[in-house]
Amino acid sequence: MTEVTKVQELVYELKLRDVMKKDVFSVAPGMQMSELREIFRTRRISGAPVLDGDRLAGIISIEDFIRWLSDGGKECRISEKMSKRVETFYSDDTLVHALNKMEAAGFGRFPIIDRQTGGMCGIVTKGNIIEALLKELEIDFHEEEIRRYRASHIFEDIRADKSTLIFQYRIAGELSEAGTTSSGLKTTLKRLGFHPDIVRRSAIIAYEAETNVLINAKEGKMVVRVEPAEIYMKIEDKGPGIPDVEKVMEPGFSTAPDWVRELGFGAGMGLPNIKKCSDKMVLNSTVGKGTCLEATVDIRQPQ
Ligand SMILES: Nc1ncnc2c1ncn2[C@@H]1O[C@H](COP(=O)(O)OP(=O)(O)OP(=O)(O)O)[C@@H](O)[C@H]1O
Ligand SMILES: [Mg+2]
Repeated sequence: MTEVTKVQELVYELKLRDVMKKDVFSVAPGMQMSELREIFRTRRISGAPVLDGDRLAGIISIEDFIRWLSDGGKECRISEKMSKRVETFYSDDTLVHALNKMEAAGFGRFPIIDRQTGGMCGIVTKGNIIEALLKELEIDFHEEEIRRYRASHIFEDIRADKSTLIFQYRIAGELSEAGTTSSGLKTTLKRLGFHPDIVRRSAIIAYEAETNVLINAKEGKMVVRVEPAEIYMKIEDKGPGIPDVEKVMEPGFSTAPDWVRELGFGAGMGLPNIKKCSDKMVLNSTVGKGTCLEATVDIRQPQ
């Protein structure tokens, strides 16, 4: 699966009307060429759309103005010197469409036309687009920050009240889809405002336990308790059980069959990995009855 960045997502979601500059300075076709000198100078612009009412008649740029000057600067109407063939976009075009076309056109200022009325309703430059993308990203970032902040207050309350937050997950499904339980937990812990290291360690424990359950017992459940001092995780199944719980803790020990190895599991590193990530780990199992793994991650350490 290819990863889609937030920017790529936005480029497909946003329309030009979301990013275009709406109050556009324009000139009328009947204005004199000599008037442009003052306009370009004082407004610090390098071109302007020429509007006949709300219709786009053309674009006049500083290059057109210079060409007119070097040709003698004989007074005439703007409509005689403007470029009439103008590339435009519709306000409901997507950013991705506009960016592709800008790339091909090799220049960067496009009037935007309202598809319904046919009138010009804005202008877009690459600068606008970048600015809008940055603003969107900032909003997104800000929302996520607020969510985390609120959630971490919830966590502060848990600490203060010495209460516990409990999450329960059912583990089931195809091994090839493993990871749903652990990524659910990861998101939750992140939102609670835990330090990335705590989140990462808890997610690894959950992931390794989840795959072990799927491989050996097909299904099971995970209970996670967020307590003032620790994250406690209990993963249980009613599978075949483990004959020798000390043996399976050895790095490299595995009974995984070929079909499991073909999916990339079976290195015998899951349980050792869980041990490494947890501050305390207890593995209990009864052959024919099932397996219960308990792991805790200390959260009292300075974060
Ligand atoms: N829930 C369980 N039920 C029964 N047996 C288990 C369970 N969890 C682990 N085991 C046994 O312990 C062995 C070692 O597990 P461990 O997670 O360390 O390695 P693995 O799953 O074989 O490979 P890896 O995790 O590296 O992909 C397994 O091969 C299996 O025999
Ligand atoms: Mg494993």
